[in-house]
Amino acid sequence: MSAPFRIEALTPQHDRSTFDCGSDPLNRYFRQQVTQDARRRVTACFVAVEQGKGVLAGYYTVASSSIPVTDLPDEVTRKLPRYPSVPAVRMGRLAVDRQFKGKGLGAAMLADALERSLKAEIAAYALVVDAKDEQAAAFYRHHGFIALNDNRLALFLPLATTKELLERKN
Ligand SMILES: CC(C)(COP(=O)(O)OP(=O)(O)OC[C@H]1O[C@@H](n2cnc3c(N)ncnc32)[C@H](O)[C@@H]1OP(=O)(O)O)[C@@H](O)C(=O)NCCC(=O)NCCS
Repeated sequence: MSAPFRIEALTPQHDRSTFDCGSDPLNRYFRQQVTQDARRRVTACFVAVEQGKGVLAGYYTVASSSIPVTDLPDEVTRKLPRYPSVPAVRMGRLAVDRQFKGKGLGAAMLADALERSLKAEIAAYALVVDAKDEQAAAFYRHHGFIALNDNRLALFLPLATTKELLERKN
């Protein structure tokens, strides 16, 4: 990542009004709805802040979730206990402001979400993501995510296999 950013929890002091990632639904959610969802504890939101200037360069949301084992590929379920589902952290949204794209920030926020999930004391088997379209799914596949059965836009990455991504960030 070339520009200096810090990633921290969203607070009311952050100015979300000018954020523009090029996707209207992701912009609208961030500007109008995310604080309400956070207050109701249905999601947590983390933001990337450009050091010195305080500009919001990106955000992602995460919440606890689960994956039905029938959605996981056979080679994965063979190594898991016979529970109906496994615990997961769901990254519902990830977005980088247009002026900061292509600088490694999307990858850095993904790594941050993986790191927070790994550090949490409550266990999760994987980070699961909802890609908004095929291009977003390609971004996640580039980082090692695997599609869930029958849904190319929902992908997962077992947290035990995230070492390489985290090393690239640190
Ligand atoms: C997808 C998105 C988050 C990527 O963020 P970014 O900061 O521009 O991406 P980065 O600079 O961190 O890219 C990191 C790596 O991913 C690759 N990459 C980026 N976008 C990619 C894509 N769509 N498909 C495949 N690879 C991609 C880059 O080439 C780079 O590879 P490298 O590390 O091997 O050189 C950003 O483009 C965005 O906000 N898009 C609109 C919203 C969106 O689609 N969100 C996705 C989930 S809903």
